[in-house]
Amino acid sequence: MALITGASQGLGLHIARLYAQRGVGLILTARGREQLDQAAHELAQTTDVVALPGDVADPMHAERLVATGLRYFGHIDVLINNASELGPSPMPQLETLRAPDLERILQVNVVAPLRLIQLVLPGMRSRGDGLIVNVTSDAGVQAYPTWGGYGSSKAALEHLSRVLAAELEGTGVRVFVVDPGDMNTAMHQAAEPGIDLSQLPTPDAVAPAFVELLDNRTSPFGRFEAQRLVSAPA
Ligand SMILES: NC(=O)c1ccc[n+]([C@@H]2O[C@H](COP(=O)([O-])OP(=O)(O)OC[C@H]3O[C@@H](n4cnc5c(N)ncnc54)[C@H](OP(=O)(O)O)[C@@H]3O)[C@@H](O)[C@H]2O)c1
Repeated sequence: MALITGASQGLGLHIARLYAQRGVGLILTARGREQLDQAAHELAQTTDVVALPGDVADPMHAERLVATGLRYFGHIDVLINNASELGPSPMPQLETLRAPDLERILQVNVVAPLRLIQLVLPGMRSRGDGLIVNVTSDAGVQAYPTWGGYGSSKAALEHLSRVLAAELEGTGVRVFVVDPGDMNTAMHQAAEPGIDLSQLPTPDAVAPAFVELLDNRTSPFGRFEAQRLVSAPA
């Protein structure tokens, strides 16, 4: 089964839809209860779904998610750390980024993913198999003005993933970093208020890359650009 954070809309929901079609059981979370319930109701037509509303940055919610997943499914095979915090919109330059805003970004985008990883790892280690996917961004690699808070959190998540993979070498647990590329979603609209994003790909065009990763056993670590993965010839 797969635990997917930020699964009520955008990329997370589209990954969940494709995993459901593969018969993967799902444990899903997002903060907004109504939208998460709608997603769970739709997906439950296709697979077993548990949906728990809450904030991934809340340690008690993280524990509840994993405990519920284990109780319901017996094991967690895949963790997709997809939920993310952009920070204030419009995004300020670093010169004026408030410390509490940066702390919140880091809590959601770095601390929360690591906490979930720490909660699922014992089971993955003992089964000698598991897949952890951390969703990052080119903003974690390139220096775009005003993207410093979010971008530095994604850079931290990427490096954390690299070190984790080195620490897990030989355990059978794979750690992948995925940059989905620009998509027309609520988060991107908040990042660029007033800009027409209708020419960008929608997340349904990107989500198939995450299905390919389920079967990718070529390396225990990988950094993927999802839009290249889905457009690459088979
Ligand atoms: N869109 C892009 O162009 C783009 C580019 C590069 C990388 N990414 C990355 O792709 C991933 C998905 O982004 P998206 O564009 O699909 O975003 P989105 O459409 O805005 O969806 C974000 C999802 O995460 C949930 N979420 C946000 N904060 C949360 C929290 N603290 N706890 C639990 N759930 C939370 C949201 O629901 P609630 O608000 O109800 O909690 C929603 O389900 C993110 O990691 C993002 O950084 C996106």
